[in-house]
Amino acid sequence: STGQAIDTDSMTLTRFTLGEQKKVPHATGDLTQLLVSIQTAVKAISSAVRKAGIAKLYGMAGDVNVQGEEVKKLDVLANDLFINMLSSSYTTCLLVSEENKTVIEVEQERQGKYVVCFDPLDGSSNIDCLVSIGSIFSIYRKNNEAVPSVSDALQPGNQIVAAGYALYGSATMMVISTGNGVNGFMLDPSIGEFVLTDPNMRVKEKGKIYSLNEGYANLWDPAVSEYVQGKKAKKAGARYGARYIGSMVADVHRTLKYGGIFMYPATADAPKGKLRLLYECNPMAYLMEQAGGQATAGKMRILDIVPTDIHQRTPIFLGSSGDVQEIIDLYKKHN
Ligand code: AHG
Ligand code: MN
Ligand code: MN
Ligand code: MN
Repeated sequence: STGQAIDTDSMTLTRFTLGEQKKVPHATGDLTQLLVSIQTAVKAISSAVRKAGIAKLYGMAGDVNVQGEEVKKLDVLANDLFINMLSSSYTTCLLVSEENKTVIEVEQERQGKYVVCFDPLDGSSNIDCLVSIGSIFSIYRKNNEAVPSVSDALQPGNQIVAAGYALYGSATMMVISTGNGVNGFMLDPSIGEFVLTDPNMRVKEKGKIYSLNEGYANLWDPAVSEYVQGKKAKKAGARYGARYIGSMVADVHRTLKYGGIFMYPATADAPKGKLRLLYECNPMAYLMEQAGGQATAGKMRILDIVPTDIHQRTPIFLGSSGDVQEIIDLYKKHN
């Protein structure tokens, strides 16, 4: 036959999630419904990202967010989509967004049992130059019958029920885990569905790529400096390639696909690093561990950090288990 064959039995993300749901006794279908609403937000953001130039969605929205960053128009659009799709899914009671100073309580009549922490648009500095950007989310269960409060959002990452990201790259892809490994789904624009293309994603035990912003080299601690010098060593076989995109989602996705390590260390002027624990580091750490990798803050596992503030930052080193273990050992040595 000519042209692209239409798969009459494609494994869509919704179908896959339903299959996972059926494995869980007494599952209510709420998580499936929640993931469907996240897919809708992601599809709308993907469409906006791909016509941002035409739709004049580039540039600043004209204000500064709680992070002290200039907000881009696409930041606002993505945030509104996530908030509206999540709260109208009747499965969430509390939301944490990078773009909102305080927690967002879903109105009472629409509340459900899940808490969602999300970065609606990651890599905003890359929007106007057409470099890949993404969205990141993590899902927790509210563990009590009390009125939703910020304490419901301050759960450690080891309590995550599900997490994932969307990458708006040369294609739009969602990478998700509900606790049984990691699966990748490519958006097929012709049917508007995410289709399973990367089943059971595993990160290599060791890679040959290191990734961090070397512009801060004179601000690193001794462990990071020693680690990076080692990767540039002349010794045959010790040398690594360097890749840094500046969008966490893109850098993490490359690390998941190709192996190696992604780092955003603490620096002298940012002692807690830059990346935020609740909606950047925890979801990515969860996915990396589900894929057989590791994710550390240097001296402790990311997922064991007990949050005290919804926008708190942490240093992060994630990726191939063997590569991350080297940095863990260097922090022990330099303790
Ligand atoms: P966001 O656009 O959501 O604020 O996140 C930007 C983050 C992350 O995407 C990336 O890894 C990091 O900023 C890059 O920071 P530097 O420019 O300091 O390297
Ligand atoms: Mn930002
Ligand atoms: Mn981000
Ligand atoms: Mn963001």
